[in-house]
Amino acid sequence: MVILGLLLAACTGQLPYNSLDPAGPVAQKQADLYWLVFWIAAGVFVLVEGLLVYAMIRFRRRSADDTPRQIHGNTRLEIMWTILPALLLAGVAVPTVGTIFDLASRPEGDVLEVNVTGHQWWWEVEYPDLGLLTANEIHVPTDRPVALNLTSRDVIHSFSVPRLAGKQDLIPGRTNIIYLEAPEAGMYLGLCKEYCGLSHANMRFRVIAQEPTEFDEWVEAQREEAAVPPSGSLEAEGLEYFSTGQCIGCHTVRGVDAAVGRVGPDLTHLAARDTFAGAIFDLNEENLTRWLEDAPAVKPGAKMPSGLRDMGLTEDQIEAMVAYLLSLE
Ligand code: CUA
Repeated sequence: MVILGLLLAACTGQLPYNSLDPAGPVAQKQADLYWLVFWIAAGVFVLVEGLLVYAMIRFRRRSADDTPRQIHGNTRLEIMWTILPALLLAGVAVPTVGTIFDLASRPEGDVLEVNVTGHQWWWEVEYPDLGLLTANEIHVPTDRPVALNLTSRDVIHSFSVPRLAGKQDLIPGRTNIIYLEAPEAGMYLGLCKEYCGLSHANMRFRVIAQEPTEFDEWVEAQREEAAVPPSGSLEAEGLEYFSTGQCIGCHTVRGVDAAVGRVGPDLTHLAARDTFAGAIFDLNEENLTRWLEDAPAVKPGAKMPSGLRDMGLTEDQIEAMVAYLLSLE
């Protein structure tokens, strides 16, 4: 087990999901509590195992007819091993309960509200105060605490971004709130941590923390309506297929009148994202083409139907639609 443990620990030097490498005050408090409990438990382990090994050696049977002194009970010991664990548990409970209440209380300051809705198998991300809707990539500014209001459209999911804020369930018909702060600009990986069906493992997301000015620029760009391709272009042809086909039943593209579906992700600024389909694929021509051709083949159980099989699209139509989607910056 030790050798196996060492081998597995050597698998990677990058640990993007490591909650012991906190990148913000919320995750820091969780890590602090973890280490406190860990060291108390380590102390108990050493003490108990030490006494056990000592007793095994000191009181081992020395000859065939060796019998230990026969006693019945020891009041002092009984009291000691009742009180000591009780004190230890109380010592763990006080900081644990304190941290729970601390993390559940709304942070001071100008809190940014973000509504995150779990879907099989992607994340809808809404900024109610900014009037924005996006998916899978949660942009946050580095200078404001963020309140994530979590719910689900279908089954129970679990939102986990270990380096920033631990995890919390998304439950249909209910809103759970967690707070996070990301003082350092950067990308933090997240994933669904509650088994939620075939593509549970393909339900990723990322939190992108940006300096305030960059975040504001992102907000301004996201507020725009979708880009309209120049007429006669391949992109315009793609828009034609997109807006007259089945896509608009599920997807919104602000600026395209008929495209108001909310079943799938909002695509208004799809090309401004680095990833798609639950943040499992890099957003590029090749991956989008495979996705439009046959989504369930590349992501098991995907609710997006196969373009070739189910929607009767041709390769030429898919090529045009991919060009259109990639123009939605
Ligand atoms: Cu959503 Cu697992």
